[in-house]
Amino acid sequence: MSLITAPKGTADILPSDSYKWQYLEKKIRDISARYGFNEIRTPVFEHTEVFERGVGDTTDVVSKEMYTFQDKGGRSVTLRPEGTAGVVRSFIENGLFNEPMPAKLYYLINCFRYEKPQKGRLRQFSQYGIEMFGATSPAADAMVISLPYNIFRELGIKDIELKINSIGCRKCRADYRNALISYYEDKKDMLCPTCNERLYKNPMRILDCKSDICKSISVNAPKILDYLCSDCADHFNQLKELLDGMGIGYTVDPYIVRGLDYYNRTVFEFISSGIGAQGTVCGGGRYDGMTEQLGGASYPGIGFAMGLERIMLLLDCENIKKPVPDLYIASMGHRAQIESALIAQRLIRSGAAVEYDIMDRSLKAQMKYADKTGALCSMVLGDNELDTGIVTVKNMRTKEQRQVKIKDIDFQFITEMTKE
Ligand code: HAM
Repeated sequence: MSLITAPKGTADILPSDSYKWQYLEKKIRDISARYGFNEIRTPVFEHTEVFERGVGDTTDVVSKEMYTFQDKGGRSVTLRPEGTAGVVRSFIENGLFNEPMPAKLYYLINCFRYEKPQKGRLRQFSQYGIEMFGATSPAADAMVISLPYNIFRELGIKDIELKINSIGCRKCRADYRNALISYYEDKKDMLCPTCNERLYKNPMRILDCKSDICKSISVNAPKILDYLCSDCADHFNQLKELLDGMGIGYTVDPYIVRGLDYYNRTVFEFISSGIGAQGTVCGGGRYDGMTEQLGGASYPGIGFAMGLERIMLLLDCENIKKPVPDLYIASMGHRAQIESALIAQRLIRSGAAVEYDIMDRSLKAQMKYADKTGALCSMVLGDNELDTGIVTVKNMRTKEQRQVKIKDIDFQFITEMTKE
């Protein structure tokens, strides 16, 4: 029979790498908790409408990239292409606005987009994101932006540039929209077919188009920052002041509009130059109208998401420790094998990581295996040890050996033996 391979754009994370992911996820959970964010887990699939209404049907994500199918009941469902829309749906549906505000939520999820796979771009990928509801102040924006900034700092990831912009509110965007339409109108026929079609529907999307021709046409496009109303301009100025005060470096990029439709006012991206074309490691912004868009009352919201595969490309994994057994118990003979299982049970229950032979291997092969696992200590149980009740435990690195009564081997003893 022919071999079945994983679908294009998906990746297995094998034990040789999964511990690095666990390290990253643990760091992320830890920092999220220090900022007062709690985890939310929403379904992998939602009614398609959640994304059509939430993310916007003129975006590439919704119009081209969604994994949408009919379930057996004839309903249209979609594997989530991103986390925000589902969290907003859940926030409204579960009345999380009744809890103390701001609501501070984070998630570690898989997302699905039917994109052309390349380095740092998959069809199933992992996101860490946060969503915060209830706070409208520029201080909220600065706090949210400081979170990924501190994550990169704590992970030792350097050479990441923070770009910020304001895309204004509905009021200032109406004028900007008209300015964009008149700018692009006489160049309409040179735009890519998608942008040509969306010129009157959603001209800001053209600024985010990846095609070379649209990019070159957009070079001199009007800048949203010239169209901000005084409230939005104030908000943006205060944000910049706060970031300056917090020592967070940034550049203002007036052409950042983000690929999703729900944003208003502050938008931002963290970009790395070290991982090729897919350099955006984190993106986010404010989305004050989205709860209403999904049928709820009005609550301001802001958040971001980062692509963990891209972070993994930047993470220096050399000092991340792979988990290893504290002790390997080698055994010679049937009696010793049973005893090794009993000792291991006792030690595992007390908190130690212990392995023992279940392959009926020779002593030499068992020790070779112990070596490969990287076990910190080992001991050999045979008839002699069982008769005397005394065994020699060896530290595999320092080669230090200690004789100990079998019944006295406990978690504390193992901890002392493995202390560096
Ligand atoms: P996004 O910019 O579409 O925003 O995605 C966020 C991040 O996910 C990107 O910066 C990138 O690192 C990663 N990413 C996106 N697509 C892929 C892919 N195909 N393969 C690998 N990584 C990818 C959002 O998803 C918004 N929900 C962010 C947000 C949260 N805004 C407010 N709250």
